[in-house]
Amino acid sequence: MNQYRRTAAFIDLEAIRANYALALSMDPGSRAVAVIKADAYGHGMVRVARALEDDAPAFAVATIDEAMQLREAGIDTDLLVLEGAMSEQAAAACAAAHITLMVNSTPQADFARSARGQVWVKVDTGMRRLGIDPQELDEVLAGLRAAGVPIAAVCTHLACADRPDNDMTRLQIETFLACANDCGVPLSIANSAGLMAWPASRADWNRPGIMLYGLSPLREDEDWAARLRVAMRFAAEVIAIRDVPVGSSVGYGARWTAERPSRIATLAAGYADGYPRHAPDGTPTFVNGQVAPLVGTISMDMITIDVTDHPGVAIGDLAELWGPNVAANDIAVRSGTIGYELLTGVSGRVPRIYD
Ligand SMILES: Cc1ncc(COP(=O)(O)O)c(C=O)c1O
Repeated sequence: MNQYRRTAAFIDLEAIRANYALALSMDPGSRAVAVIKADAYGHGMVRVARALEDDAPAFAVATIDEAMQLREAGIDTDLLVLEGAMSEQAAAACAAAHITLMVNSTPQADFARSARGQVWVKVDTGMRRLGIDPQELDEVLAGLRAAGVPIAAVCTHLACADRPDNDMTRLQIETFLACANDCGVPLSIANSAGLMAWPASRADWNRPGIMLYGLSPLREDEDWAARLRVAMRFAAEVIAIRDVPVGSSVGYGARWTAERPSRIATLAAGYADGYPRHAPDGTPTFVNGQVAPLVGTISMDMITIDVTDHPGVAIGDLAELWGPNVAANDIAVRSGTIGYELLTGVSGRVPRIYD
């Protein structure tokens, strides 16, 4: 909690642990790398790592700096850097810190052969972002083996797993298994959406991210999603309440105008805190046990909500912007984005408070 401003993201670490256990139970016998990049999707990377370190055999982060931050915090679990190293020196630093690097290209395979730290190898089966070509896999693996590089897994990443009706995922899995099935190394395909919606993508290692934080990546929800526990409650303090007459507008650009005598509560969170500026009028918040709609343009530090129907709302109340009562995915859809962006976008000004 800030000393003078009560707006905060309340984080339920037990929910994250329960969601990790659910991910494991979806594919008994497999192992799951807990994806905690981007500050654990905004939940606090070191705290989340500590909460999961007894259960998770490995964590995935995006960057070497994130991995080093975990090492400096005393986390000694295996760490996988998804973007890999961009130089021989970086690869050597990772080997020295027992940090596993993703090999996403032939230059990265060269860095790995010189550093000799443990690697995963990624195959590009259609994402066209990172990964070696399927036909290069045998040669890359042979080169790494010849140099004595431990290869912990071969993986690919799915582009459309959040759409159960999209055929690309089936093709990616087929392409991947055709080149990797006999390579003698554990395999990994599934992210959260793969785990939930594509049983054929479950393999030796799965890589759940968003589901650990209680959000479903699927457009059409499924049974698994209902079993997730939301881990973040982003809440802002009511700092002012005013009555506005019919015809009075609220906020920048006078976007919303009262059509009845209205009571407006001003909340201490805006786009500089990570609330999406594109949220339209009517976007729900939850205050004093009831849903209250957003009215007016999002400001940098404030938003305004209509509490006319909730006379009990008072200055000092905390209003939930998203969390167990207001789905972050719903706010995201209304604002033209995805839940991932909302979670990772909660800014450094917002303290994370751990239950
Ligand atoms: C390579 C890789 N694996 C797994 C994940 C986790 O994905 P999700 O958060 O959709 O479960 C990510 C996230 O972007 C990723 O880049």
